[in-house]
Amino acid sequence: MQIEKLHTALKYYMLPTLLVVSQSVFAAGIFIPRPSPGLIANADKGKILFQENCARCHGVDLKGTDQGPPMLHRVYLASHHSDAAFQLAVKNGVMPHHWPFGKMPAVPTLTADDVAHIIAYVRGEQFKAGIK
Ligand code: HEC
Repeated sequence: MQIEKLHTALKYYMLPTLLVVSQSVFAAGIFIPRPSPGLIANADKGKILFQENCARCHGVDLKGTDQGPPMLHRVYLASHHSDAAFQLAVKNGVMPHHWPFGKMPAVPTLTADDVAHIIAYVRGEQFKAGIK
């Protein structure tokens, strides 16, 4: 009897609540931009997009400038800054927390697909540079 009640509560009360909660998480902007399903990220495209949108701070060679940190750094490996961190940085900007360069502004002209190409480029260069 008790178990049946619990089941009913789960079905009619808790699941809708969960749905509402997850929708408000979306509304709160925690939503992570996702590339199109089946997109094949292209590092060559990513290189061009990086040079146009990121290099003035992160460096044409990804080694950083006086405006922003190097991407060829262990702190930006996937283990510490996942692809989601890149998507969120481009969408929302970044408050300074690792370095003394100040805030990174959002780059609203880029789509999630553009950022996926940029990530492919950055990961490739990190690998080539042997960052561990
Ligand atoms: C105006 C300068 C500027 C531009 C342009 C810029 N960044 Fe940044 N970015 C920064 C700074 C500064 C930080 C470091 C913030 C900190 O941790 O102190 C940063 C941090 C990041 C991070 C780490 C985010 C985190 O969660 O710590 C990522 C990823 C990143 N940038 C990617 C990009 C990409 C990709 C582009 C181009 C689409 C880009 N940035 C363009 C200045 C810039």
